[in-house]
Amino acid sequence: MESMIKLKNVNKYFTEHKAVNNISIDVMQGEFLTLLGPSGCGKTTTLRMIAGFEEPTSGQILLDGVDVSFKHPYERDVNTVFQNYALFPNMNIFNNIAFGLKIKKLPKKEIEDKVTKALSLVQLDGYKDRYPSQLSGGQKQRIAIARAVVNSPKVLLLDEPLGALDLKLRKQMQFELKHLQRRLGITFIYVTHDQEEALTMSDRIAVMNQGEIEQIGTPDDIYDRPKTKFVADFIGETNLFEGVVKEHSNHKIKVSLEDEQDIEIIDDPSNLSKLKHGDKIYITIRPERMKLSYNTEKEKNTLEGKVKERIFVGSINKTVVILSNGKEVIVNEPAVNTLKLNGYDEEVCINWEFEDGVVIS
Ligand SMILES: Nc1ncnc2c1ncn2[C@@H]1O[C@H](COP(=O)(O)OP(=O)(O)O)[C@@H](O)[C@H]1O
Ligand SMILES: [Mg+2]
Repeated sequence: MESMIKLKNVNKYFTEHKAVNNISIDVMQGEFLTLLGPSGCGKTTTLRMIAGFEEPTSGQILLDGVDVSFKHPYERDVNTVFQNYALFPNMNIFNNIAFGLKIKKLPKKEIEDKVTKALSLVQLDGYKDRYPSQLSGGQKQRIAIARAVVNSPKVLLLDEPLGALDLKLRKQMQFELKHLQRRLGITFIYVTHDQEEALTMSDRIAVMNQGEIEQIGTPDDIYDRPKTKFVADFIGETNLFEGVVKEHSNHKIKVSLEDEQDIEIIDDPSNLSKLKHGDKIYITIRPERMKLSYNTEKEKNTLEGKVKERIFVGSINKTVVILSNGKEVIVNEPAVNTLKLNGYDEEVCINWEFEDGVVIS
């Protein structure tokens, strides 16, 4: 299948500063792709190049098979939704949404139909005569979205569109946006620094760091199989261990952790075959993959430690355990199914399945 947006080895320098470093991405028709990364990693610059507000220093951007790298924004069938809404304050909602259609000189009746439909899509039927100042932040953002989809662009670009909203409204809008995207079938490229937002909404996530893409994959992929330390650390909460490969077979390795018991990892040969005896590696294990007990289990990994702290977070118990080498490990267990503790400083075992450790090179 032909991709809707294709970035080929795209670079962007601002004088000496390299903001985007050799990015290649294929976004499929109808896909919801998120660029995720910390502030300053190059997300907005990448989006602005796709929109046509910046030119790449080198590389190519294709929209539906056509090279648009140096075309003006209005020559691309792409719309952008910004965090700050960018509505025209002196125009009512109808005229805000109709603006682009009027420039295109569409017949009046058609404009009216399209605006009415767009308002209904964002559940603001009946708001057309209001002015932006008479709307709440969430409503303004809905109007900005209605304006962006009213002429059915091939691609919608969204730069932290929910960033200015409070948490509850943001969660609600995440679902609405995702639903809207499914219904319209428009390709979305969404920018956020919020990993939870990215995991909730995206078909695929491109994790960016210092102008580069560290990993592209489905939310499951990115969460369960991080390829780099940066990705493991940035997405969700994790326990990172450093170790040395001690024994090695096709689908299983034994790893010695400094001053701790050996642990084992079972994985596909494709992921383990690159490793050699004596290699120094990192291993990540998600806190929710671990369980506390008072026992060493034969067919699982076990580390022993002392309970430092336990806090109740919503439906989970988060327990911090200190190993004898001083390292702190976080264990998240469902509150309904947690080891009852007799007190702090108690000696406990942390157990997890051999399959639940992920090797990071
Ligand atoms: N117009 C510009 N001139 C100079 N440097 C810029 C410009 N725009 C962005 N940058 C720099 O490029 C880097 C990436 O910025 P940006 O794409 O805005 O990051 P993000 O959206 O991920 O926070 C940052 O270091 C930023 O300071
Ligand atoms: Mg930005």
